[in-house]
This record gives sequence, structure tokens and C-alpha cells, in this order.
Amino acid sequence: MLNIAIAGLGTVGAGVVRLLRQNADLIAARAGQQIMVRAVCARDKNKQRDCDVSGIKWVDDAPQLAGLPGIDAVVELIGGADGIARDLAVTALGNGKPLITANKALIAAQGVALAKLAEQNNVPLFFEAAVAGGIPVLKALREGLAANSISAVRGILNGTCNFILTRMREDRVDFATALHEAQQNGYAEADPAADIDGFDAANKLAILAALAFGVEPDFAFVRTEGIRRITPLDLAFADELGCRVKLLGIARMGDTGLEQSVGPALVPMTSPLSQVEGALNAVQLQTSHTGHIMLQGPGAGSDATASAVVADLIDLARGNRAPAFGVPVAQLTKVNPGPAHKSRYYVRLQVMDKPGVGADIMTILRDEGLSMETILQRAQSATESVPVVLTVYEADAEAMRRALDKIARLATVVEKPCLLRIED
Ligand code: HSE
Repeated sequence: MLNIAIAGLGTVGAGVVRLLRQNADLIAARAGQQIMVRAVCARDKNKQRDCDVSGIKWVDDAPQLAGLPGIDAVVELIGGADGIARDLAVTALGNGKPLITANKALIAAQGVALAKLAEQNNVPLFFEAAVAGGIPVLKALREGLAANSISAVRGILNGTCNFILTRMREDRVDFATALHEAQQNGYAEADPAADIDGFDAANKLAILAALAFGVEPDFAFVRTEGIRRITPLDLAFADELGCRVKLLGIARMGDTGLEQSVGPALVPMTSPLSQVEGALNAVQLQTSHTGHIMLQGPGAGSDATASAVVADLIDLARGNRAPAFGVPVAQLTKVNPGPAHKSRYYVRLQVMDKPGVGADIMTILRDEGLSMETILQRAQSATESVPVVLTVYEADAEAMRRALDKIARLATVVEKPCLLRIED
């Protein structure tokens, strides 16, 4: 029997307690032993929650869980890169207890130190639920694709942002309403800024990159931008261009280093990533010997995330002792950051509808060696400004950025332009 302690009984913790009960027999059969929750800890003992913890020992101070006699493994579902979550993780691993966590912020920031501690104490550290919720992508990288070298990882890694962008496009609800719906459905982080400003996806990308490329996870090297500046107009223009707007995480090994970025991008509807809607997540892996692999599924929510946590518990019960990042910590290398890759671009401008405006913009593009592919203008008005969208053929990111700075300074451009990659 594997006796476990769980810290945190929020959306994910409650889901884990329920799943272990609901599927107890098949989990025991697959794990080779029963998995029993023996102790729990959460902020408020008297809170109404979606799971039954009667008969389970209650502890007020999370790190104490790691020292309880008879506990074989600790599950950390508190969240946060430091504070109690970190204290619990360090105490558990330091005490020789295996640690399972869904905490991407903790792993992205402290993963190397924790993996080192796990190795020193000869215990596993698993965190499948930290990336893309229920999708077993870390296991795919660590196990099923372990013989491949990986050249690129691209993914929709934040369910809340994907849900918001989908709801804004499909039903034209505003940003705040869509965010509220995501929160009601249990997808959003406690502080939704982590979702909508891209940091949640950046943490996940840093972890994926670590497993894919054998580097130390370091989200400081992930160029990060969220979806606050995306308007319903962008979603409508994207539609006209045969694209969807997605918050994409990209990690790509180039000739001079590893590019890591999170940001909104247009994805042509011919790409399977464009069809990933609502709170779903997806990860595409470009592999040396297995071609392109795409995994898609629920990236957030109680049941799906619990599924990934319990899968780690089953691995632990079976005796899986794989290194946390696929190789021993000593073999991980530091990130050598590489430049942004070339791509097509979407530029939305708000301009005065006057003769010569287009010519000024074209001149700037020409001077930077950029070539325009499409132009869309929505309305005509002699007095007011109008939205104009350009798409630009494959361009160097720096040249595009320089051109955009010059365009933004034109007197006839009346708002800050919106620049998005088109990810083919
Ligand atoms: N807030 C996250 C999301 C939950 O929306 O994807 C899972 O990490």
C-alpha cells in the first residue's frame, strides 16, 4: 500500500481525492498496490469542498506532512514558486519522501535545486500535472520519445487564454465576461494575471524545454507576452485572413541557441493547432525519428489535472525512478538563448484615412527590406481614423520591429499598432 499526504485541497486537490476513490480498483490494479490518502492539509478546515476527507488526518502546517510517520509520498497542490509550497517540497525531498506536484511556478523556478535534492536523497520528483493539465506530454518526452532528439516544441499551454480567445471570437463576449466564465469553470489561476499575461504558459514552456532540450528550466529566458492587447477586431481580421488567434508557446533549437517565447499569434486554419478551442491545450513536438507528434486535451480543470497527478502516483507505486528532467541534473546545460525565428507578420494600425498614408507605410516597409502580402481596410471616413491590417511576407523579427517603431511614429497613425506573428 502506498500511503500519501496531500497539501492543498483546491480544484486539483479535491479532484485527486475524488479520483483515488472513484477509480480505486483500477488504480490499485495498475499501480500494483492500493494508494491511500492518509493525511491532508489546506488553508481552511471548515470550508465546503467537492471531496470527502472524513476519516483522513488533518494537519494545519503543510511541511509537517513530510514528517508524519507512515507517509510514503507527498503531493504538493498549494501553488506558488516559494513560500509554503517550496518549504514543503524541500522538507519532503530532504526527508527522503517522493514528491508529486502540479506546481509549474515552483518547478520552473526551483526545479533544478529540487531535482538535485531528489537525486541526493534517491527519491523521485514528478510533475506531470504542471504542464498542460491532463495531457501526458512530460511522460511522452521522458519515456515514449526518449530516443529522439527534439528540434521544436509548440503549444497552446494556457486553457484560460484559449477559452477567452475562443469565447470572444465565437460569441463576441467581451474579455472580462470570458475571463469570468473561465474562473467559474475552474480553469484560471488564483491570480488571473498569471494566465492572461502569459506567465503561466511561460513556466510550462520552460519545463517543456528542459525535458525536450536537456537544459535547466529558466523562465527568465522566455520572451513573454499575454493577450490583454488582443481586441475583437483582431479576432475578426484573423478570421478574414483564414487564421485563429492563439497564445502560443514556442521553444525551438536554432543554429545559435534556444529560442523560447510565449505570445499571441495568428495560426492558419490549415494548422491543427488552430482547431484547438475552448480550454483545451495542445503540444506539437518536432522529433528526429517520429516526425511531428501532436497531443491535445484538457489543460486545466479538476478531473483532468487530477488524472495527471494520479498517473504520477501510479508511476511511483510501480517503482518508476526516472530522472525529473529526463537526465541527471549534472547533465542539464544552461540555456544558451537564441534569436526569434523568421515569420510572416500581421500588423493592425489605426490610421487617418487620407491620401499618402499607405505610401508612407510602404516606404518604411521597403526601407527595411520587408514585403507586404495583404492589406485590409474596414471602412472609409474622411474625418475619422480607420483600422487597417497588413500582412508581411516572412521577415526577420528585428527588421519588423524597427519598421513598426517607425510606422508608430507617423503622424497619421493614431494608436499603438498591434503586431502579431503568423505561425505557419
Ligand atoms: N490556469 C491554468 C490554465 C491552469 O488556464 O491553463 C492549468 O495550469
